Parts: sequence; C-alpha cells; structure tokens
Amino acid sequence: MPGAGRGWRRLTDPDPPGGAAVRIRGLEHEYGRGARRLPVLRGVDLDIEAGDHIALTGPSGAGKSTLLSLVGGLERSQRGELRVDGQELSRLRGDALSGYRRRTVGFVFQHFGLVQVLTARENLELALTLSGVPRRARTVRAEMLLDQVGLRDRAGHRPAQLSGGEQQRVAIARALAHRPRLLLADEPTGNLDEEASARVLDLLDALRAESGCTLVVVTHNPAVAARAPRRARLAAGLVRA
Ligand SMILES: Nc1ncnc2c1ncn2[C@@H]1O[C@H](COP(=O)(O)OP(=O)(O)OP(=O)(O)O)[C@@H](O)[C@H]1O
Ligand SMILES: [Mg+2]
Repeated sequence: MPGAGRGWRRLTDPDPPGGAAVRIRGLEHEYGRGARRLPVLRGVDLDIEAGDHIALTGPSGAGKSTLLSLVGGLERSQRGELRVDGQELSRLRGDALSGYRRRTVGFVFQHFGLVQVLTARENLELALTLSGVPRRARTVRAEMLLDQVGLRDRAGHRPAQLSGGEQQRVAIARALAHRPRLLLADEPTGNLDEEASARVLDLLDALRAESGCTLVVVTHNPAVAARAPRRARLAAGLVRA
C-alpha cells in the first residue's frame, strides 16, 4: 500500500500512543420521550481490550451508530457503565468531554464528513488546528498524513474532486491527525466498490498495527467483518460476542 509504514512511524515517534480499553456494562440508551420513547440499547455488555480490532455488526436500526457515538463521547449514555481506560464517560463534562473527543477518539463517518470548500490538505490542517497543533507543525503533519494514505498528489483537491475511496482515505487521515488511541469507524467502506474497500481496510489494518490504537469497525459487510480478529453482533438492544 502506498505510503504506509515509515511515514507513520515517524509521525508517532517518540512515544507511540497505543490503544484505549473500553468496558461497557448494562449500557442503555433510548431516544424520544413518552409515547415516542424508543429504547435502542437495552443493557449492552462489551469489553474491548487496548489495541483490539473488533467488528460490530447487526441489522439496520439495531443501534450500532448509537453505540459508536456513545463510545466516542458524541452522545451521553443514559444508564449503565461506559469506561474508556477506566474513565466513566457519563461523568465527563465541558472541557474534559471535548478533550476526550479531541485527543483520545478518532471518528470515521460513513459519509466522510469532510468540509466541502476545503482541499484535502486544508481539511487535515483544520483537524490539526482544532487539536491545538501549531501552524508550522500542521503543514508538515498534513503532508505526512496525505502521504500515509497515498494521496500526496491530491492534496489540493476538494472533496468533490476526489473519488469516494479517496474521500474516505482523507477522512481516515483526518481521524488519525491527532493520533487517537481509539479509532471508531462507522461503515468506512459503505459507499465503496470492492477494490476501494480493500484499500481502505488495508490502510486501517496498517495504521492500527503501527500505532497500536484500538479499532472498532461497524459494518454490514461480512467480508469487512471477517477481517477483524474479533466480532460482536448487536441485535434487539444487546451485544452478542
Ligand atoms: N437522534 C435520534 N432521534 C431519534 N431516534 C433515533 C436517533 N438516532 C437514531 N435513532 C433511531 O435509533 C435506532 C438505532 O439507530 P442507529 O443509527 O444507531 O442504528 P444502526 O444500527 O446504526 O443502523 P444502520 O445499520 O442502518 O446504520 C433507529 O431505529 C433510529 O431510527
Ligand atoms: Mg448506523
């Protein structure tokens, strides 16, 4: 795969970040209220070890994205235990919560979530700015990240000028910009053909192997799930490993 390897190692030196451990017990979450109440998670139990790669599958509407957004600190869990490296997320507020989202978690969304008016390089620089990386270091890091995902020659392209697979690789580079210890990918190959999917998965594998981050991939695709050494299925509000 182009660019994987040395560049990333340089990026993570001198102190590779490793992975975060996730512990979930009796996690419940519902949307709406009263007659419109919709229980989605009904007591999820799941342990993910530091550096683990796990695929989360289950029918549409089962709550996979909900679970991912709880683990990523995008939504607050309502009942049960949700700890990342021992820290209960529902207790985090304000700066501590945004710090957790910015420093610990990398999120790859199904629909890329790139800023359309910015080029690939600028999307990465924006993410680095939000993580507090100084201007000069940002430029160097953005170049390294683009190299890492094999898109150095597309740095000046805006998302609309990139293929779906290329946009997803920029989105992965962006999720990795701050060297997260927990990488959450929601259907990262959902819109891609087989070849582009394989490249994205190779990339995620290589990055995880080198950075040691914990990787959770939500997918409907059995071939994508099969690549993870560990699989869990979410159905009827519960996880079955
Ligand atoms: N913000 C919300 N408000 C109300 N209901 C929601 C909200 N987000 C999700 N839901 C509902 O919660 C359920 C779980 O949604 P979720 O997106 O977690 O499912 P999913 O397993 O990711 O599905 P898919 O495989 O289709 O992406 C669905 O029935 C959905 O309609
Ligand atoms: Mg979903």
